[in-house]
Amino acid sequence: MHNPIAVLILAAGQGTRMKSRQAKVLHRAGGLTLIEHVAATALEMAPAPGVLAVIGHQAEQVRAAAAPLGIRFVVQQEQRGTGHAVLAAQEALAGHRGLLLVLYGDCPLLASSTLARLVETHRAGDAAATVITTTIADPAGYGRVVTDGEGAILAIVEEKAADAGQRGIREINSGIYCFDTDQLWPRLETLRPNSASGEYYLTDVVELLRAAGRKVRAFPLADASEVLGINTRAELAAADRIFRERKVAQLMSDGVTVERPETVTVDVRVSIGMDTVVEPFARLLGRTAIGEDCRIGASAIIEDSTLGDRVVVGPFTIIGDSRIADDARVGPFARLRFGNDVEAGAHIGNFVELKKTRMGAGAKAQHLAYLGDSVIGGQANIGAGTITCNYDGERKHVTEIGPRAFVGSNATLVAPVTIGAASYIAAGSVITDEVPQDALALGRARQVVKPAWARRRRAQSGSGEES
Ligand code: UD1
Ligand code: MG
Repeated sequence: MHNPIAVLILAAGQGTRMKSRQAKVLHRAGGLTLIEHVAATALEMAPAPGVLAVIGHQAEQVRAAAAPLGIRFVVQQEQRGTGHAVLAAQEALAGHRGLLLVLYGDCPLLASSTLARLVETHRAGDAAATVITTTIADPAGYGRVVTDGEGAILAIVEEKAADAGQRGIREINSGIYCFDTDQLWPRLETLRPNSASGEYYLTDVVELLRAAGRKVRAFPLADASEVLGINTRAELAAADRIFRERKVAQLMSDGVTVERPETVTVDVRVSIGMDTVVEPFARLLGRTAIGEDCRIGASAIIEDSTLGDRVVVGPFTIIGDSRIADDARVGPFARLRFGNDVEAGAHIGNFVELKKTRMGAGAKAQHLAYLGDSVIGGQANIGAGTITCNYDGERKHVTEIGPRAFVGSNATLVAPVTIGAASYIAAGSVITDEVPQDALALGRARQVVKPAWARRRRAQSGSGEES
């Protein structure tokens, strides 16, 4: 029987080098906050009750970001160092005996497969703690790993305390550890604050373990990029790029065609079906799900929306929080703001805006329209320039358009109003009253024609030439 695993995520710090009003772990890369990434990785190592985050700076916002994942939290009121942060979780972890993985909330690129190897190495050895280390060209700012040359760690020396010789060491502490809890807690209880900074250093546990006759081993990683934390906006952008590249590579290997993949932005939670084509500069965000055989046009932006199969989204179309069924066509240059349902085979054309509108199966609004708070029946035809006047200055009202209705160009539909099935609305009408099924409604002044009026006017003013 393996000893069980719990995971502790240290995320109480502010992250001053971000120069932000927002806690560092709330910044986003790949469409998720850093804390969500790390929590998701942690959850691959242990079930939700065994994953705990130490929060402090902007605790409530950080909690709100990660709580949907089901993890637990402890608040570290004052941030007095990494050792102090682990101690803050001691009570919450009292029921857990086994292994404790310690991760950082600002280290989102760490893969669970690496953690699995760390755990495997730890279990196979005789160490009380195993530390992920890596060797980098410029170790400035990191704790240096002093070893006996055979993988046993003698000490981790923080930059400030390091002597010239130690500063020259390029093997650094990643800050990611696997501890035996039986060994960790007794050592943490004897931890003393660092004399220079007054902080409790988790790294000092190494020497305390050694003094107690226990071993600490290094788990060296060849690829440092996975364990280097994010401290600056530039590092955040670099992590974002890596998440985007990984995501697009995954999509392509799953059978999605991505044109100019370096230009598209796909959040990690987006799903896309086989044989869908994504054109350059598309942005697919949030919890968007796209079916098979779709085409997503250049520079389209789709967020938190669901698309069926064979949907065509034209270039420069913006879609938020909407559902689009199979075979529908949307755009180019359409805007679906939120709460829309576009049913199968419907067409939404250029410069058409939808808000909280149901577009029935096969219905069409091909050009220049605003359809808000509307329920539009199947096969209805909405002419160019149709406007639903859904707002009276105080409240929003619904426009209902029955199936197969034909709404002529430039109709103004003053809501609340109902237009019956298979009825006709004359072009240019202002419709304020119910239109029954199969009726024709005209809501405009009759045309007046004055023959030769223009010629007489020119003659009066003496300016024009007779023709
Ligand atoms: C730490 C390590 C250093 C290692 C480096 C790797 C110590 C003493 N040093 O240094 O050896 O090379 O990480 O990045 O551990 N945190 C809390 N509460 C606190 C203090 C920190 O939750 O009171 C959290 C931070 O939010 C952060 C993590 O712990 O996620 C690391 O803290 P940080 O202050 O960045 O440690 P470093 O000085 O970088
Ligand atoms: Mg740091």
